[in-house]
Amino acid sequence: MTTSNFHTNSFLHHLSIESPKPMELAKFYSEILGMDYKKITHNEKTKWMCFGNDRRIIFSSGKNKKLDFAAFSCRDNNSLEKYKNYLISENVKIIDFETPFFIEGSFGVVDPDKNFLVFGLSNSKEGISYSSSFIDKIYAPLQHLTFKSKNVESFESFYEKKLGFFVSDRVMKEDSTLATSFLTSNHEHHTIACFKSNTIEIDHHSYETGEWQRIKDWCDRFEKKGIQLKWGPGRHGPGNNLFIFIEDPDGNWIEISAELEVIHDRQVKVWKHEPKTLNLWGPHSVMRS
Ligand SMILES: [Fe+2]
Repeated sequence: MTTSNFHTNSFLHHLSIESPKPMELAKFYSEILGMDYKKITHNEKTKWMCFGNDRRIIFSSGKNKKLDFAAFSCRDNNSLEKYKNYLISENVKIIDFETPFFIEGSFGVVDPDKNFLVFGLSNSKEGISYSSSFIDKIYAPLQHLTFKSKNVESFESFYEKKLGFFVSDRVMKEDSTLATSFLTSNHEHHTIACFKSNTIEIDHHSYETGEWQRIKDWCDRFEKKGIQLKWGPGRHGPGNNLFIFIEDPDGNWIEISAELEVIHDRQVKVWKHEPKTLNLWGPHSVMRS
């Protein structure tokens, strides 16, 4: 299979995450990741929208680290309609769903772990901008989201066979079960990934800063704001990206990535489930189960 076979050409546009203290979390992302925030009412719930520098995230009151939804933006109305028709032809249940960062016409689907994904069109093209007044500029757009799942095979099958994502890499355990699956909805190595676990939750979300120099800038920024790295710097095997990780007050892991592989036409790469796959450079402090 090649990437020309996939049916979506979308990128991860924004996330909505629940928190016992959503306002505090919004303040953290504003201060540490350089975003503005404002309180809104959406679907009769009070929420906090964080926005700026191509990063968008919504926090609402609820459980710690629980994904409310992940939203993917398509290129234009034609591609959104085409994708919706493809999903209908695959018997994927479509749910009408509006989000404050998209224009009317977005819709959602539910994956086998009950994660809710939304597809739509950004409202920034409609003259609605949430970043114009912001001056604290540091580059790294939101880029990918990873999950933990008890059944990576079923997760991968849904995203590949039903949603039309492309499997870029797999990490296999010795018993031939899947430890990790990396899938993409565009030319980026992965926009979604899934790790085998005994829980179902978000693993981390990632911002792509492009270059090694900017990883250093982010590290210096975190140090000035009293934030210590949780992992890295290192280089992942799958995706070949440089990485650092920090943690927000709820325990959500945030990755700053650079040099993520661009793929256009290649076979699936298979990796051994071993420490070097997670960090090509050497020993690491976290081993996935
Ligand atoms: Fe990542």
